[in-house]
Amino acid sequence: MPIISPSLLAADLFQIGQQIKTIEQTDARYLHVDIMDGHYVPNINFGDKIVGELKQHTDLTLDCHIMVDRPEQVIVDVAAAGGDLLTFHPETSQHPYRLIQEIHRLGKKAGIAFDPGIALDTYADLLPLVDQVLVMTVSPGFGGQHFLAPMVDKVAAAKQIRDDRGYHYDIEVDGGVNATTGQQCVAAGANVLVAGSYVFKGDISANIKSLAVL
Ligand code: DX5
Ligand code: ZN
Repeated sequence: MPIISPSLLAADLFQIGQQIKTIEQTDARYLHVDIMDGHYVPNINFGDKIVGELKQHTDLTLDCHIMVDRPEQVIVDVAAAGGDLLTFHPETSQHPYRLIQEIHRLGKKAGIAFDPGIALDTYADLLPLVDQVLVMTVSPGFGGQHFLAPMVDKVAAAKQIRDDRGYHYDIEVDGGVNATTGQQCVAAGANVLVAGSYVFKGDISANIKSLAVL
């Protein structure tokens, strides 16, 4: 059963507390929090303050997806606020290797995210260090985009590299995930599914259930 990480970008901000309570009663174990700066991605959303508030109200793992330029200070702030799993895009940091070490020093899990235009080989030397590889299945920045089918091959490649080399990372996919595309990703080796629009449109519990059985 994959880990489901509902993306709060698609939540109803006026009902977010109730929606999180609903999620807590499902098989979902993560909450995906997109942190955007309007520079690395053309959108601004959430920050360490909401991570802190979430931490006070839920025991779900806070799966923080950090889409900002120069993420070093943001990551320290998000970790202090209670983020559990901190995933950043390595091209945004001058020293991504050091940043992964720093995340681990802070007692948190570290992930790296691959934009659809960046090959896994580009950051091959980071792969043995990380707890999660996030394969973006849309270009980062917005919810509700169409799933990029060629990324399924990247998921399979991430699994192959991990298994061949004895690495330990989870493989997360994010963007355009629904029961159909999620199934393709799970078949290729993904074990963490982020879903925003698909989860929050309609019946949250039923939507999560349809992903949890994949
Ligand atoms: C996009 C974000 C995603 C977004 C996914 O850059 O990283 O987490 O919320 O939304 P859907 O599932 O609607 O594509
Ligand atoms: Zn995300």
